[in-house]
Amino acid sequence: MAHIAHNPDAWPDMRTALDLGAVLPRTAELRDGHLWIGGVDTVALAAQFGTALYVMDEAHIRGQLREYLTQLREHYPTADVAYAGKAFCCQAMCRLVAEEGGWLDVSSGGELACAQAAGFPVERVVVHGNCKTPLELWAAIEAGAGLIVADCFEELERIDRVAGELGVIQPILLRLTPGIIADTHEYMQTGAEDSKFGFGIGAGAALAAVEKALQAPGIALKGYHIHIGSQIFAFESYQRAIEVLLDFAAGVRDATGFTPEVLDLGGGVGVAYQADDQPGSIAAFASTVTAALCQQLAAHDLPEPRLLVEPGRSIVANAGVTLYTVGVLKDLPGIRTWVAVDGGMSDNIRTALYDAHYECLLANKADQPRSTVVTVAGKHCESGDVVAIDASLQPAEPFDILAVCTTGAYNYSMASNYNRQVRPGVVWVQDGQAREVLRRETYEDLLRCEV
Ligand SMILES: Cc1ncc(COP(=O)(O)O)c(C=O)c1O
Repeated sequence: MAHIAHNPDAWPDMRTALDLGAVLPRTAELRDGHLWIGGVDTVALAAQFGTALYVMDEAHIRGQLREYLTQLREHYPTADVAYAGKAFCCQAMCRLVAEEGGWLDVSSGGELACAQAAGFPVERVVVHGNCKTPLELWAAIEAGAGLIVADCFEELERIDRVAGELGVIQPILLRLTPGIIADTHEYMQTGAEDSKFGFGIGAGAALAAVEKALQAPGIALKGYHIHIGSQIFAFESYQRAIEVLLDFAAGVRDATGFTPEVLDLGGGVGVAYQADDQPGSIAAFASTVTAALCQQLAAHDLPEPRLLVEPGRSIVANAGVTLYTVGVLKDLPGIRTWVAVDGGMSDNIRTALYDAHYECLLANKADQPRSTVVTVAGKHCESGDVVAIDASLQPAEPFDILAVCTTGAYNYSMASNYNRQVRPGVVWVQDGQAREVLRRETYEDLLRCEV
């Protein structure tokens, strides 16, 4: 049996909910001992919609998007923000991004279909993926996607062929790997030379890709894309990546005359998962990357391209909490206390996948100090099905409502039906109103694909 390592000497931190700082949604507050978000009592939400349930603070999401746009444009007026749909995608989210004037990064045919169903303007869609299928490429080109980010030579050929068949010229960016090892979990590093993503700059593939793209009649090469990883706290990694990118751009200009109209710097700004985490601010990110970009453009005498960035996690992660009902407690004297809830790795795979750490609290005892240390387990048939290890928590009893913070990103979007568990619903809250943007699945939903 897998052993879930823990620290037997961990001490409870005695914090109450409001001492948890940045892991909470912007509108979180305490009323009558309960956690409220968006002017709504989360305990009442659990009763109304059932658990497990994702609750998201709409004002937080809009606020984060606006902050990116404002901060970036203060330094670089032609900047745009493409929300990375992989973090959390549904039609309501696509509409919100459209209303806020954002672009949308999609990385599958399904995310594109969702954007189209939501009426998202396709000319503001950036299409990603390291292995887009011919059907996905066809759908994107036929729809008129604003930019396709080409990832490999086969894809350049396929885009050119499909565009030719449809009688259009498809604008593209080339995804480049700058050889930067970002300071984050190995599984979230994407900019290293040994990567399944993109054309390596150091290896010479990037220059060959530019030459191929420039010769393809169905392709309009607009510029370059890089994404060095996710959950990045140290913004120097971006500075180094921009230096490599613009060195490359200058070399291409010298070799072919091509200069980029668009540079897309990807996503990756980190968020607080634990109360003491101190991620860099959006303002610091914006000033660091725009300063590095302007400096490198001037140093290489390159014209100013339009700038795109693709944040996902930092838009939605802290907007969300997951509510569970405590099912059973198992106190193993001298070992640990397990608190099992009515969800787990099917709605939050990140603890098992990335060794993620989450802050937990009891929404119905949110004003009490977190005076115990527990391991929160799910209900699935895996020993690795844990949500939080050595988590400080108010003393729990069956039927308490347990809230796990920072679950707005890469939770619903990575959810599964393992053990034929239904996926939870998603409720957005704002100004005292709750609206269900995704309903909880039913057993009929689970049986829908049976033939
Ligand atoms: C190409 C690309 N853009 C944007 C993102 C979003 O990154 P994040 O959610 O860390 O902001 C990712 C995530 O891995 C990505 O692969």
